[in-house]
Amino acid sequence: MRLLITGGAGFIGSEFVRLTLAEHAEDSVTVLDKLTYAGNERNLDPVRDDPRFRFVKGDIADPEVVRGLAGECDVVVNFAAESHVDRSLEEPGQFILTDVYGTYVLLEAARSAGHARFLQVSTDEVYGDVGEGRSREGDPLRPRSPYSASKAGGELLVQAYRASYGFPAIVTRGSNTYGWYQYPEKIIPLFVTNALEDKPLPIYGDGTAVRDYIFVEDHCRGIDTALRAGSPGEDYNIGAGGEVNGLAVAGTVLRLLDKPESLKQFVRDRPGHDRRYALESSKLRGLGWQPRVSFDAGMERTVAWYVANQEWWRPLKNGDFWEFYRRNYRRAPE
Ligand code: NAD
Ligand code: TYD
Repeated sequence: MRLLITGGAGFIGSEFVRLTLAEHAEDSVTVLDKLTYAGNERNLDPVRDDPRFRFVKGDIADPEVVRGLAGECDVVVNFAAESHVDRSLEEPGQFILTDVYGTYVLLEAARSAGHARFLQVSTDEVYGDVGEGRSREGDPLRPRSPYSASKAGGELLVQAYRASYGFPAIVTRGSNTYGWYQYPEKIIPLFVTNALEDKPLPIYGDGTAVRDYIFVEDHCRGIDTALRAGSPGEDYNIGAGGEVNGLAVAGTVLRLLDKPESLKQFVRDRPGHDRRYALESSKLRGLGWQPRVSFDAGMERTVAWYVANQEWWRPLKNGDFWEFYRRNYRRAPE
């Protein structure tokens, strides 16, 4: 297969590129990535010299670029997105341009090129706040943030292309993902890097909101399974099934780094904060996938990586980073 992997310079996309080239000798990969603040070409250093790999800098919302690349590939795996809820509260427009309109541009190009498969990488956040039980694929989409609404919008276009044109698309809905190469704005890399800098870990509200964390390798293996063994027209949840709250994330990071509890800092809650996400992933398990890495083991590997790769993340915590931080947390870094 010749894969067009959009957003392949980001956190999960770059892991998927590395996994695909390592495990599928006959495949080639073209990455299309705009290199926003969250994109980082260095994430692709491990595959840079592989003759089956090429990188194109560009926007998924640019029909000309996308049409050209779709014509040279067999499948699109769409990771490209604006991905941070807090930024979506500040500036929803770019989320709609990339996550909704960009998805349309990709669908249109893939359909014109006659692709036999398309995979849309989505999120458990489209189900909205889950009071009890676990979300299943047939549940209604009830997004509550501009980020999750944009991701749901992209998904609805995928559904429309399936129904209207018989377009063979698969959707995966992954849960909160963590691991190496994650830009330090999401809770886990933010807390790990802040702790390494002896800065406070800002916990929203009372720290009891729950997420179903999955290690990045497990998420990518799940996408690989859905792409190769899944049925076009189907949606697949990808979650590890655990429930971890913000206080527990902070506690785990501080314990692994041997830092004091006094670094925990309670801050103003996120507006509209979804209290709980939880996925039922038995449908994908039925295709032979299962998560391999426990939260404790994944956190140990993640923390060890951020300790060993400070030259990767320290330059990312620059002036623009702290400017957003000050606006978002309404306080200066301490
Ligand atoms: P990320 O922010 O690390 O990476 C996104 C990548 O997309 C970056 O490389 C960025 O440069 C690129 N990009 C953004 N806009 C683009 C555009 N218009 N054209 C081309 N490239 C563009 O995000 P991530 O955490 O790796 O998430 C990847 C995908 O997985 C997203 O679709 C996200 O919604 C989804 N997802 C993420 C999580 C999570 O916990 N991080 C969980 C479930 C699903
Ligand atoms: P986040 O990593 O932003 O992912 P999402 O909101 O997309 O699920 O947040 C995960 C959880 O951690 C969520 O309940 C909000 C909380 N959180 C904090 O307590 N402090 C922080 O600084 C951040 C970024 C998140």
